Formats: sequence, C-alpha cells, structure tokens
Amino acid sequence: MSRLFSRREFLFTAWATAISLAAGVMGGLGLWHASPPEDDAASPLIELDAPPPPDAPVEIPAGKFAWVRNAQGAAAISQICPHMGCVLAWQTQEEGFQCPCHGSRFDKEGRVVHGPADHPLNYLQVTALDASGRVVDRTTPEHRWVRIGEHLRYRIDVNKIIPGPKDAAET
Ligand code: FES
Repeated sequence: MSRLFSRREFLFTAWATAISLAAGVMGGLGLWHASPPEDDAASPLIELDAPPPPDAPVEIPAGKFAWVRNAQGAAAISQICPHMGCVLAWQTQEEGFQCPCHGSRFDKEGRVVHGPADHPLNYLQVTALDASGRVVDRTTPEHRWVRIGEHLRYRIDVNKIIPGPKDAAET
C-alpha cells in the first residue's frame, strides 16, 4: 500500500538531506585544510656538510641539483632543463650536463653548449654557515659561488633561483 509523505516527514527528510550535504562539504574543506599542497610538505632546504670535491660535481637527487666547485668556490646548479623541465645528467667525459629528452647540453657551469634549450641552467641560493650557525657567505645573482672553508656547512634553498651565466664573460 502506498502512501504520501506527511508534511512533517517531508520537512524532516529535507532537513536531514541538507545537513548531510553541509557535513560533506565541511568535511571536504576540512580535508583540504588538513592536507597541505605537496610542495609545502617538503622542506625546500637541503644541508650539506662538505664542499663539492674538486674533480667532478656531486648530483643531489633530492634537490635536483649538482653541487659544483670551481676556482671561485661552490655552487648548486639546477639539473632541471630550461627547455621543458627534464632532469639533466652529468656526463663525466664531456664535463657537462646532458638532457635525456631532446639532447640539450650545458657546460659544467650551466652555459648552453647545444640546444634546443636557449637559457643557461639556474643556480640555487647557497648559504655558508660556520659551526655556530652564523652566516659567513651567501650566493646572489652577482655572486653565484659561495666561499669554501674548513668547518663550513652549506644550506641550499631549492626555491630561491639565481639565473645562471649566459656566456664565458659571466661566471
Ligand atoms: S627538456 Fe631538455 S632539451 Fe628538451
């Protein structure tokens, strides 16, 4: 036997539906707030206890950069290809970086040797700290190489980008 909803049943059902929908929306918002974006969850800072060795860069996969030394000091050179974002690999024999995607090549200081990339590699900001945590040097766009010294440690901020050198006149 079928029967129509009474006015009271209809109002109760509408109220319960509205409460359920509101709870679902609020729950969703709560989850959104509880789960920060992936980039926020990972620390952008990487600490290294030693300068790069003099002979070849050290690749730091966690930060997608190479820890490089030259006569001026140490630098963190991004291994993200400026063409379309593939991760570059260090090539010992060529003494430079090569892109596995479209073949761009860069010298060991990040200058373009062969396209299609038409921009040098980015550098990441490096801060040198002494044993007490005091800042003794920090890279900038005008000063891409940080001081190397005994008992210094190095903090690399992968979110702070410094444009790399365009040609041999720049270092
Ligand atoms: S992504 Fe590196 S050359 Fe295209």
